[in-house]
Amino acid sequence: MEIEEIVEMDEKHFMNVYSGRYPLYVEKAEGIKLYSKDGKVYRDFLAGIGVNALGYSNQRFKEALKDQIDKIIHCSNLYYIEPQAELEKKLCQNSCYDRVFFANSGSEANEGALKLARKYFKKKGTNKFETITADKSFHGRTMSTVTATGQDKYKKPFTPLPEGFSTVPFNDLEALKEAVTEKTAAIMLEPVQGEGGIYPAAKEYLEGVRELCDQEDILLIFDEVQCGMGRTGELFAYQNYGVEADIISLAKALGGGVPIGAFMAKEEVAAAFEPGDHGTTFGGNPLATRAASEVMDIMLEPGFLDSVKEKGAYLRSELDKLVAENDNLVETRGKGLMLALEVGGSLSAKEITNQLFERGFLVNAVKETTLRFLPPLVVEKEDMDLLVKNIEEIIRAE
Ligand SMILES: Cc1ncc(COP(=O)(O)O)c(C=O)c1O
Repeated sequence: MEIEEIVEMDEKHFMNVYSGRYPLYVEKAEGIKLYSKDGKVYRDFLAGIGVNALGYSNQRFKEALKDQIDKIIHCSNLYYIEPQAELEKKLCQNSCYDRVFFANSGSEANEGALKLARKYFKKKGTNKFETITADKSFHGRTMSTVTATGQDKYKKPFTPLPEGFSTVPFNDLEALKEAVTEKTAAIMLEPVQGEGGIYPAAKEYLEGVRELCDQEDILLIFDEVQCGMGRTGELFAYQNYGVEADIISLAKALGGGVPIGAFMAKEEVAAAFEPGDHGTTFGGNPLATRAASEVMDIMLEPGFLDSVKEKGAYLRSELDKLVAENDNLVETRGKGLMLALEVGGSLSAKEITNQLFERGFLVNAVKETTLRFLPPLVVEKEDMDLLVKNIEEIIRAE
């Protein structure tokens, strides 16, 4: 199909929610490179928004998927599914959680986590149903998760919103304490906020939140949809903090590109769900769980997660050098390969993103002043050097 034809069809038929797509007509991809139909090549420092952790076209991953396609792609959750059982075991053995439920996306995983928290307190015979979240958070696009999200722009168009949600400033324990009422069932936080601008939680903050939850009989939910699955250099972001939530949600990198979400919980909390309380048609199907199982095996190979830490530290230090040299750069933030560069003065993150695109690099501006980097975890030093060199040139020319 010609490029013009693709654009015309898309503009005519697709709902108008991604205004102004970039002129990249994805044809194929390999490693961290995306190949466009117009012959241009792009180094991807966004990884499908944190999804393609293994990069593109990983041979081992593809072979596992092909093998699974030959066996079975989908069957219902009325039957036992071998790859699902294997993934359950791997997730539980490598985390502090005892049980897992599979969904299809991050929003859906969070939706399930919120339902589990409500059911937990309903079963206890209490009237706790409210959830407190943090400003700048992002939890999804369903009605509950958009309401949980601490950014007005996502929810304003959809009022009236479901009841039972409130938002407090992030990393502010006192504000959280003040917001707790006898109806608070859950506190939901991203250990490293993603869409809001890459803001890591402070260790003392998460420790304080855990203590508060224990004192007040509140469930702590960690949304690790973006920061989980190796992104920070640990398999799960909470492992950087030594603080365990009662429920955790995952998606994005979990399936390495095949859609899958999950939420996990400790036994006592998970036990609140009884037959009929929750379910899904697609969630946990053989193809998606086989994909996630292979992703986990690769991430758990010796050295993989350490290399994420090393690469993250390297990219950050190179960006820090730029910050030190340029008055219009404010700071770097993040953990592992989940990084942000904050720009100031006359610089615009959107403009830098556009210029990087012209030069064959994909990043994104989560805010007018924030560039976000979520490269595949297999990114190489040479790729990072090229990216930083190009950012430097663009900024110098401004
Ligand atoms: C932290 C977090 N939670 C939830 C979601 C929603 O995930 P999905 O788009 O898969 O529904 C996202 C998506 O960006 C996210 O970053």
